[in-house]
Amino acid sequence: MVLGIESSCDETAVALVRGDRTILAQRIASQDEAHRPFGGVVPELAARAHADRLAPMVEAVLQEAGVALSDVDAVAGTAGPGLIGGVMVGLVTAKALAFAAGKPLIAVNHLEGHALSPRLADASLQFPYLLLLVSGGHCQLLGVEGVGRYRRLATTIDDAVGEAFDKSAKLLGLGFPGGPALERAAKAGNSARFVLPRPLLGSDEPHFSFAGLKSAVLRARAALAEPTEQDIADLAAGFQQAATDCLVDRTARAIDTFPEGTALVVAGGVAANQAIRGALADLAAANGLPFVAPPQWLCTDNGAMIAWAGLERFAAGDVDDLSAPARPRWPLDPAAEAVRGAGVKA
Ligand code: KG4
Ligand code: ZN
Repeated sequence: MVLGIESSCDETAVALVRGDRTILAQRIASQDEAHRPFGGVVPELAARAHADRLAPMVEAVLQEAGVALSDVDAVAGTAGPGLIGGVMVGLVTAKALAFAAGKPLIAVNHLEGHALSPRLADASLQFPYLLLLVSGGHCQLLGVEGVGRYRRLATTIDDAVGEAFDKSAKLLGLGFPGGPALERAAKAGNSARFVLPRPLLGSDEPHFSFAGLKSAVLRARAALAEPTEQDIADLAAGFQQAATDCLVDRTARAIDTFPEGTALVVAGGVAANQAIRGALADLAAANGLPFVAPPQWLCTDNGAMIAWAGLERFAAGDVDDLSAPARPRWPLDPAAEAVRGAGVKA
C-alpha cells in the first residue's frame, strides 16, 4: 500500500493505492480558478496552493481509507520534472511523511507516473509496449521495456502537443484550461474548412513538431475580422484534426521501428481527448495491436499514477533516501540525444 503525492503542475493530488490495483481513497484539487485570470499556470501561485492544500488532503485520504500513516508501506512523491516550487512542496511533504512513519521514500519521475498509469488501469498490459506520452510539457514516443527502462523513440522539436492545444485555445478565446475547451468547441466545427499545416507528416525523422500548426491558427484567426462562434469552432476542429493526424503519423512510424511492442498505449493529459483516442484506436486495430488508454481522469495529473509508479518501483526493490533531489528537468531516457530546439521540453 503506497501513498502517492503529485504537485508538479497545477493539480494538487493525493492517493492511497494497493498492490492489487485498488484505489483506497484519493483527492484531486484543481487550481483552475486561481490561474484563470492569467490565462495560464502561474508557478508561484501553484506552489502556494500546493503548500496550503497538501497536508489536509493527505489527512482526508488516510481518514477515508481508514488507514494510519504507520500502515502504509512507502510514500511516493513526484520529484520532477515540473514547476520546481510545486515539486519541492510535494517532495518535502512526502519526505516528512516517510520520515515520520519510518517508511521508504520513493521519488517518482512524473513522466514515469504517466508511463506506468496504463498498467494501473489494465492488469493485462505487459512490457514491452509502445507508449505515446502526450501532456502539457511533453510529447514523446517511448518503448517501455520495464519499470525504469524507457527508450525514447521520438520527442518534439518545439512545442508539446498539450501546449499547442492550450495556446491555440487561448488564441481562439476559448479560455483556460485550453485543451478540454478546444475539444468541446471542435465538436461543432468543420475540420476541413481551414487548411492547416501538419508539420513533419511523413518525415523520415521520427520526431514531432507543433509550433508551425499553432502559428497557422494564429494567422487564420487574425484574418477573420469578427469571428463568429462557427468560425472559432471550425478553426478548433481544423487544429484538432491536424494535431491528431500528426500524432497518428508519427506513431505509425514508431510502430515500425519498435516491432517488439505488444500493445499501443497512450497516456498523459492529452490522452483524455476523444478524437485522439479514437484515431489511435483505429491505428492500433489496423496494425493488429491491442490499444490501451487509461480512463480520462487517470490521463490528466493525479496522485494514483504516482502511487502506482511507487508500487511498481517498491516491488522492484527500488527506493530512495531522504536526500532525493527535486528536479525541474528529468528525462525518462537519459541516453536519448537532445534534438534541435527541444532543450526546454526533452
Ligand atoms: O498530464 P497533464 O495533466 O499535465 C502535464 O503533465 O502536463 O496534461 C495537461 C495537458 C494540458 O496541456 C491540457 O490542455 C491537456 O493536457 N488536455 C487536453 C485535454 N484534456 C487535457 N488536450 C486536449 N484535449 C483534452 N480533452
Ligand atoms: Zn502530467
